[in-house]
Amino acid sequence: MSSDWLRDAVIYEIYPQSFADSNGDGIGDLRGVIDHLDHLSWLGVDTIWFNPCFASPFVDAGYDVSDYLRIAPRYGTNDDMVELVQAAHDRGIRVLLDLVAGHTSDQHPWFVDACQASGPTPDGDRYVWAEAPPLRDTSGDIPGTAAWVRSPGPRGGWYLKNFYDQQPALNFGWGQLTADEPWRDPVDAPGPLRNRQALKDIIASWLDRGVAGFRVDMAFSLVKDDPGLVQTTRLWREIRQWMGSTYPDAVLVPEGIEPRMGEPPAFDADFFLVIFPEHGSLFDNQGAGYSPFHEPWSPFFDADGAGSTDVFLAAWEYAREVAADRPVILASADHDLNRMVCGPRTADQARSAFAFLLTWGSVPSIYYGDEIGMRYLPGMPDVEGAICNPAYNRAGCRTPMQWDDGPNAGFSTADPSSLYLPIDPDSRRPTVAEQRTDEGSLLHLVRRLITLRRANPELGGRASTRVLNRGYPLAFLRGERVLVVVNPRREAATVDVADAEGAGLLLGEGARLTGTSVDVEGFGFGVWRLRG
Ligand code: NOJ
Ligand code: CA
Repeated sequence: MSSDWLRDAVIYEIYPQSFADSNGDGIGDLRGVIDHLDHLSWLGVDTIWFNPCFASPFVDAGYDVSDYLRIAPRYGTNDDMVELVQAAHDRGIRVLLDLVAGHTSDQHPWFVDACQASGPTPDGDRYVWAEAPPLRDTSGDIPGTAAWVRSPGPRGGWYLKNFYDQQPALNFGWGQLTADEPWRDPVDAPGPLRNRQALKDIIASWLDRGVAGFRVDMAFSLVKDDPGLVQTTRLWREIRQWMGSTYPDAVLVPEGIEPRMGEPPAFDADFFLVIFPEHGSLFDNQGAGYSPFHEPWSPFFDADGAGSTDVFLAAWEYAREVAADRPVILASADHDLNRMVCGPRTADQARSAFAFLLTWGSVPSIYYGDEIGMRYLPGMPDVEGAICNPAYNRAGCRTPMQWDDGPNAGFSTADPSSLYLPIDPDSRRPTVAEQRTDEGSLLHLVRRLITLRRANPELGGRASTRVLNRGYPLAFLRGERVLVVVNPRREAATVDVADAEGAGLLLGEGARLTGTSVDVEGFGFGVWRLRG
């Protein structure tokens, strides 16, 4: 597959609401992104992943789509997206969109029509409808999300939702059929087949406009009550194969890790989810080390050095089972939980975390603003579904990109009703503008690390990754030639690496090689090329 390019990618996630506002209405837009492509190009990233930017009532920040074929007017027009894709392409940057495959908005004409119908649609139901709420909860594979909601009418009964009530689940059929729940369609019933075709039409429509592929929201939620996710994965394999035959360069990246089924994988990568332990055990440092999705813990990137790489490395090994060079995407953070600079972690402490992220064998994804050390802000007010429950506040990682200290820096001044007013308790707020002029800034370090990754194929997504020391400091060998040692804790750490003698330092902070002994100061790191 020539979708192979993903292995070399360095991804940058843009949350469009908050990235750059070109017209001063308080909300980011595509023109703002176009105006700032030079920043991304200077930084060295080559792939943008956009959060959803389609027409939506924004109950869940755009993850509730009311028209998949139209850019949300507040962001611009379809033509603006085409212009953006072209302008990005001119700078060697590809664009991935977010495909919200499992559910629509309740404002989508499909759902509005379904509510108006007197009963099941003769062409096949696009949504899952039950006359009475089912006795057993067999609704989905993602705990705590899928559930039944009473129909707003006139059609009676209950519909299945995926996340918020305003996100009715699309009907892709059921893995298990039961006589007492006759509304369970098989995966090849007319409704599920219509929806499958609709996904292809949406995919084709945007690929025809030059986008490079999609990140698929809740990719493994499609077929309900699907033990082992067998049917869901088959569905995606079919879509991916169709895609490959028409758009050989395009990629599909799932939200999550694809289950191993002994068959060729459907997706082009696995994605280590920020909300789950494979990522959280490294970085989740939200105050008390809290995530609503796992027990409190100290992450490995912890100043006291109380964490471990065990959970991450186990997930890494699992992901490598299919193929040693299949991309695993690992993000600095994303729009669903915290940021790299979060809780007690400072921007200075994040330097070694970026050194790890950009030298490990995964495909790195940088969440907008993490490159300047923007902080997760606790206690932010709810904006468009950012707060799922009191313990799960995503608003703090969605604040406006801090370009500069100018009057419209936080999208705040032009429109007093702006939803995106930043509230930043830091007396010294990092901005792109100030960090561009400071060679010692986190921004410059991230740029140097990306440059280093590109200049040394051993550091890229195709080369092997061999762990030499899994504790403090973490030491690993890339491509059997490049040694990386990272110390995420305050206390200095030492490791002996037999082959290190005489190795040449490529980039480092607070790291010293004496014979075969590597000494790394607190929060330091070093990257060396082995001799010979
Ligand atoms: C996962 C997305 O990342 C999240 O932001 C969204 O709320 C849910 N899926 C529902 O679409
Ligand atoms: Ca705007």
